[in-house]
Amino acid sequence: MENKKIGLVADRLSGVEEYYFSTKLRQIDEMNKAGKKVINLGIGSPDLPPHPDVIKTLEEEAEKPNQHGYQNYKGNPVLRNAIAKWYQKWYDVQLNPDTEILPLIGSKEGIMHVCMTYVNPGDIVLIPNPGYPTYKSAAKIAGADVHPYTLKKENHWLPDFEELEKLDLTKVKLMFVNYPEMPTGQLPTKDMFEHLISFAKKHQILICHDNPYSFILNDNPMSILASDDAKDCAIELNSLSKSHNMAGWRVGMLCSAKERIDEVLRFKSNMDSGMFLPVQMAAARALSLDGSWYEQVNTVYKKRRDRVFQLLDVLKCNYSKKQAGLFVWAKVNERFKDCYDCSDFVLHNSYVFITPGGIFGNAGEKYIRVSLCATEEKIDEAIKRVKNLTA
Ligand SMILES: Cc1ncc(COP(=O)(O)O)c(C=O)c1O
Repeated sequence: MENKKIGLVADRLSGVEEYYFSTKLRQIDEMNKAGKKVINLGIGSPDLPPHPDVIKTLEEEAEKPNQHGYQNYKGNPVLRNAIAKWYQKWYDVQLNPDTEILPLIGSKEGIMHVCMTYVNPGDIVLIPNPGYPTYKSAAKIAGADVHPYTLKKENHWLPDFEELEKLDLTKVKLMFVNYPEMPTGQLPTKDMFEHLISFAKKHQILICHDNPYSFILNDNPMSILASDDAKDCAIELNSLSKSHNMAGWRVGMLCSAKERIDEVLRFKSNMDSGMFLPVQMAAARALSLDGSWYEQVNTVYKKRRDRVFQLLDVLKCNYSKKQAGLFVWAKVNERFKDCYDCSDFVLHNSYVFITPGGIFGNAGEKYIRVSLCATEEKIDEAIKRVKNLTA
């Protein structure tokens, strides 16, 4: 047919594929339909429920007749105040709840909003390699040229500022950073945050620090905003998905100087119409939970992590025991060509799915990432299956 226009996608989607897990989950689904009972150790979606008080708050608020309308674009003050208190208590960061906080529908949407707010076609965006794939796709959709900066094990998976300084940084507008880093599990250091801030100020680069993992298997949650002058050049994204077992609820936040909040709001207020009020109230309740909540969550993850270490031992992988976040990152044994070889071998022979590290960038091609979002029983079963395979 001449002049075919229906189904012709926009140029901005060129180079942006369907999200890896969306395709992989379909394949796993097919295997399950064929009776394979695949154990999925791929995705970091917490399988445990939120605190009972959070669910109770949602129920009580949803029962009220006047809670169902459109909401304020800047989020309800109850939630913004709870976020400010949470930042003060856990990160020692002072935020003005009226001007320096923007609730989000998850940190993932914040990544897109930041790109759409600040990036022009042709601008360069720095993204971590290995790193969360959404940084790349969001930047590309916004028309950016994406420049990955490599994180190396020898450098503790931290940005190599000497290498960064060698780049032509004139067109770099934005840099994504994420510590505890996904997928490597590397914790941040105060020194690294300070270095980032001086780098950002020197080159006039906006830093977007994505911080959804700071409470998982980590006793010392850190925010980039606790460093001097951070609000001048950094935005922090945060989320209740992992810290409060609320991934499906879609609650996150963007924190920075008032000017940045106002700028992002210019885009975001044209994209959605706020979050369901009972969800905001329940999220505020979650943020007010005391330290015993995080202890309880981490006790479960610690036990699972010990078992994941056993699984990785069976696979003869190399890994550090000092990792934060919802995953364990491990170097594959040399008998496998690369991560894909290892992941496919385990999937097709023992019906256990482990994420190949290469999907996070080519610096991850010799690594796999194992999720802690599966019960101890499931991980034990995975160990049994893989042991049979390697016996
Ligand atoms: C590094 C990183 N950032 C952001 C997200 C998205 O989090 P949210 O559920 O808050 O959108 C994830 C989710 O897996 C992630 O790994």
